[in-house]
Amino acid sequence: MTTVRFLPSGYTCEVKVGTALVDTCDEHPEAEVPFSCRSASCGTCRVRVKEGAALLSKAQDDELDVLDVFGDGKDVRLCCQVQVVGEGSLVLEVVEPQ
Ligand code: FES
Repeated sequence: MTTVRFLPSGYTCEVKVGTALVDTCDEHPEAEVPFSCRSASCGTCRVRVKEGAALLSKAQDDELDVLDVFGDGKDVRLCCQVQVVGEGSLVLEVVEPQ
């Protein structure tokens, strides 16, 4: 299992390896991650990975293209696109809209 802590809400939950974080956020609205397109187009769900980046699936080209538009660093991911691929501890902070 992997522990996921969402900021700034502070909501923490445990997920299995292979879990898509969009599903976790749907099941736990207390995480307070906003979504819109859910398909790597809008950037609404950007989260900064404060801990555990190696526990997330690698970014694909469509995700990287969106992050590039926003000028984000490599520590930012689209929460609608990531899966948990390893066990450990994750800390994700919602990026405020620009
Ligand atoms: S919800 Fe639009 S990019 Fe994730």
